[in-house]
Amino acid sequence: MTRRRLPEGFLLGCATAAHQVEGGIDNDWTRWVADHPEAINGGGDAVIAIDHYRRYAEDLEQLGSMHHNAHRFSVEWARVEPVPGRFDHDALAHYVDVVRSCRRAGMEPVVTLQHFTLPVWLAEAGGFAAPEAPVRFARYAAACVEALGDMVSWWITVNEPMVVAVLGHLEGLWPPGERSLPRTLAALRGLLRMHAAAAEAITTVSRSHGRQAQISIAHHERRLVPRNAASRVDRAIAKVPDFLFNRWFLRCCVTGRVLRPVGNGQAVPGLAGSLTYLGLNHYTSEAVSLDLGAPGMLFARHEAVPGLPLSGAGWAIDAVALRTALTDLTREFGLPILITENGVSDDHDEMRPTFLRDHLNAVVDAIDAGIDVRGYLYWTAWDNFEWAEGYTQRFGLFSVDRDTQERIAKPSAALFAEICRTHEVFDALIAG
Ligand code: FCB
Repeated sequence: MTRRRLPEGFLLGCATAAHQVEGGIDNDWTRWVADHPEAINGGGDAVIAIDHYRRYAEDLEQLGSMHHNAHRFSVEWARVEPVPGRFDHDALAHYVDVVRSCRRAGMEPVVTLQHFTLPVWLAEAGGFAAPEAPVRFARYAAACVEALGDMVSWWITVNEPMVVAVLGHLEGLWPPGERSLPRTLAALRGLLRMHAAAAEAITTVSRSHGRQAQISIAHHERRLVPRNAASRVDRAIAKVPDFLFNRWFLRCCVTGRVLRPVGNGQAVPGLAGSLTYLGLNHYTSEAVSLDLGAPGMLFARHEAVPGLPLSGAGWAIDAVALRTALTDLTREFGLPILITENGVSDDHDEMRPTFLRDHLNAVVDAIDAGIDVRGYLYWTAWDNFEWAEGYTQRFGLFSVDRDTQERIAKPSAALFAEICRTHEVFDALIAG
């Protein structure tokens, strides 16, 4: 039996996002789903979600009792600032108690400020591209750091900026349902400015209290490989989306400029060096080949890499790609990495045990090779509202009875608890 140890102090836990679990939120997604119920696979909405806004204390206690020592969640901007410039102190007090509950349960909080959703007033003013979005986001970030900063050091400004821009503005599958390249580029420029402004605000408020904050985006990395490695065309066609999706935003954050082709290299105040670590969301890899019928996708067809097992979402399960991402990102950016999401949609909890073992082994391999990985947050604790997939994709360690809201641990919840308790990953856990 091979036993492999994760380092002392390594963060292990789950990641969640407010809109997917809390219920009772009025934001751009709530309005979108009410107006476009057909956009949600299987119907459903997040009006109640899994009622986590009311059940957070017992939910977090349960994760702590399963030896998690970290927990990622997002603050819902629409709750905290329901009207521009007016902060809701009860909402902030709620999140203060969420952080306290994490600490009480022995979990380091990792806090996301924007996880896909926007207050309605900002969405109506133009969303990410609204001229006032960066200033507004910075004020909201400052309010969060004032309220939570004495108990939080890990911050995430925006979750998956490329994903939210592409799905909402290019593919029209998410709010605001646009299919426009110029609007996508405008959203991306706005997201960069929002991130920069929030990073500055986090740093300033933290320093004024004599603290140092860890700041990143949650970067979604999806390894893109040519469908046919021997084909020069496939190799060439994979390069452009790989650069745009996997590298463009991060390179902007490092250089401090809106790089081509989205911008002209113009400088953004506060952007250079705005990442003190790299938050990495990793799920899958894709094979790319030439598709002359897909100009909107830059003539690239994306499909699961042939030969790899598929998750319930139809995504290829590829632990080697996680290992490659850790290596490549470290080589280029040299930042400590926190895995802020990694998980598998799996209706019957059949693939998840092996998934966890293989992906955590990839992490141990990377650490053994000298890569600075600080933690691993599994997506996600509880089956939840998976955006346009509604309740059809089950990533959770717990299932949730949607009538009674009872949380039911799947076998892999116990497996993950054992990994968290021992900080060891070994094959026998799965056999047993
Ligand atoms: C990520 C999102 C997260 C969740 C998982 C499955 O892209 O950040 O909210 O939906 O995918």
